[in-house]
Amino acid sequence: MQVILPRIGMVAAWRAEARRLAASGVPAEEVRWTVGDPAPDLFGETPGLRAGQAIELRLPREAVERIETALHHSDPERFARAYAIVLRLSQGRLRWGDRSDPALHRLLAQEKAVRRDIHKMHAFVRFREIGDPAAVRRAFAAWFEPAHPIAEAAAPFFAGRFGDMDWVIATPHLTARFEDGALNFSETQGKAPPPADATEDLWRTYFANIFNPARLMVSAMTSEMPRKYWKNLPEAELIPELIRTAPERAMAMQAAMPTEPPTRAAKLRPERPALPEGATLATMKPALDACRRCPIGGCATQGVAGEGPETARLMIVGEQPGDREDLEGRPFAGPAGQLFDAMAEEAGLDRAAAWVTNAVKHFKFTPRGKRRIHQRPDAGEVEACRWWLDLERKLVRPKAVLAMGATAAFSLTGNGRDIARRRGTVETLADGTPCLLTLHPAHLLRLPDPVLRAELQAKVTADLRLAAGLSA
Ligand code: URA
Repeated sequence: MQVILPRIGMVAAWRAEARRLAASGVPAEEVRWTVGDPAPDLFGETPGLRAGQAIELRLPREAVERIETALHHSDPERFARAYAIVLRLSQGRLRWGDRSDPALHRLLAQEKAVRRDIHKMHAFVRFREIGDPAAVRRAFAAWFEPAHPIAEAAAPFFAGRFGDMDWVIATPHLTARFEDGALNFSETQGKAPPPADATEDLWRTYFANIFNPARLMVSAMTSEMPRKYWKNLPEAELIPELIRTAPERAMAMQAAMPTEPPTRAAKLRPERPALPEGATLATMKPALDACRRCPIGGCATQGVAGEGPETARLMIVGEQPGDREDLEGRPFAGPAGQLFDAMAEEAGLDRAAAWVTNAVKHFKFTPRGKRRIHQRPDAGEVEACRWWLDLERKLVRPKAVLAMGATAAFSLTGNGRDIARRRGTVETLADGTPCLLTLHPAHLLRLPDPVLRAELQAKVTADLRLAAGLSA
């Protein structure tokens, strides 16, 4: 017997037919189910119907719901499978939930696929305004291509959410139309999406704003929003760019977070980074990269260790790596480093013979557009990083130290004030090492007055000459 279900109201029609057939005791194998158009009869004739004893359909409520959801799957066999299952359940020949039964297993898998498809449709339908924006009820249209014929199952959600506007959602199977509070379905005429309009820009902005780069996982993202749905999503063209810039924006988010950890978190922080037994200046880099004793490390590209001979007689300490140093992994590689090199050469100070390092080993910055703007490390961060500077001092054991700028002076002497007044003086560190204080080259670069800059540059050059002498 052939049952032809209508395309609209398909599930309700199947339910009525299943009840009627069961009441006549028609076994599952006697029925051929189709939707819309009659299936061509393979045998050229309709065999005589083999009816049996009436079967009363009795099913758990959950079974009814899940079976009817599975009927929205695109598998042509779904109606027959569902009918066979409801008969067996009602006759006690199958237990609901018995996943070892291949037919029930299949049906439940299809039900899951349909639920997922409905969820996708709820998430990814994008409306374009098609009416007068000033009208009492504004009118919108959307095109969506679900994997299964789910329009009837998915549309009531939109009626609840967008009840104050008129809308049409067209799918390749059916079109849902919501007008003046009434939801109706029709067979889709044109199979193409409606034309784009300005509201797509709104969707783009919306999507760019809800995108959280710190939580980006491309595989999870494509499983949530499979690529097949992208073509009808105006914002999908942003995805490659969002993925590309995600690391940068994640760093920006981290940098915008408070830099001082809460007291309790600070107490829980390991006292010292895990440095492998017997680590040397040359081998400490991985531990430095991984250091999170303060939050800066989480934002920077890498830790920038000191460089130079381990037997250096002079240790030169700056503030922290800058943008260039962060990328290159070497101290004083950028503009401040170039000025330092020029002054050192003039002063007869051999940089290559010194141990050149920083008070803080990671780059602290605030992103501004594509630029990363240097941020001075705070006292807590300098304290946290002193562990590394102390390690370097212990391993290099320099004869003299040159502190360039207030941060280096604070880290080494515990006092970061009045560097302008203290420059050119030698202070004695706790272990007795002489420490000459001078201005930071970056400070000179920032001075707008060329006369003052030249004057201070000459003083710093003189300090470098003194430092070379102290460590000779
Ligand atoms: N400024 C510093 O203090 N150190 C560097 O390595 C670069 C710039």
